Amino acid sequence: MTANKTVIAFDLYGTLLSTDSIAKELAKLFGQDKAQSLAALWRRYQLEYTWRINSMGLYRTFSEVTKGALEHAVAETGLSLSVDDAEKLMKAYDSLHVFPEIPAALDVIKENSQVDAYIFSNGTQEMVAASVQSSPDLVPYADLFKGFITVHEVQVFKPAMKVYDDLITRAGKDGKGSDVWVVTANPFDAVGASVAGLRSAWIDRAGRGWVDRLGDVIGGIRPNVVVSGVDEAVGEIMKLAT
Ligand code: LAC
Repeated sequence: MTANKTVIAFDLYGTLLSTDSIAKELAKLFGQDKAQSLAALWRRYQLEYTWRINSMGLYRTFSEVTKGALEHAVAETGLSLSVDDAEKLMKAYDSLHVFPEIPAALDVIKENSQVDAYIFSNGTQEMVAASVQSSPDLVPYADLFKGFITVHEVQVFKPAMKVYDDLITRAGKDGKGSDVWVVTANPFDAVGASVAGLRSAWIDRAGRGWVDRLGDVIGGIRPNVVVSGVDEAVGEIMKLAT
């Protein structure tokens, strides 16, 4: 069955789930003015730490990395954070809302037996399960996903090639990487997937177009599809799959 199916692997944080509520939690602690820039700095260090730890050949869970990145962002901004408040901010990852177009996108998949959908994330199984099960608008779709494929099994973060190779294998698509689509709002994830021989749909949430140039540097790698929402991505993938 899996042989003929199209696999769609959805990135989680920033793609299905909006991290806006994290900025709201930060605003409660540090005020509205600081919250947006602190949220952006936190996210920047969160990703930067994943790449740095990959480069050193080490691995710690995404929660540990995320907590360290929070402390870094807070310290760099000249602020301080109690242990309790740090816990509260980390908890905010368990109650994120989906972006507005997500239910429509997932409804299309529900109606289409030719698609196997997965969540594909840097988070651990526990973190992803907590995020999905506590998200009021994602929980009705929890059964739609054939599984949560996380990097924890291979102990290296995106965009290490091993992560995408493992996704291909676990989705039952060895030798057929081009049947596997990664839908992501993260340019580094889209480029990583394409380099590894999968196909990628990049969600342009800021509406600035594809400005990432690392794919050009390594030889004309760009996402197969650039769209403004996950619903559009699913539509384009369906068209290309038929
Ligand atoms: C994830 C991060 C990259 O869910 O957003 O994998």
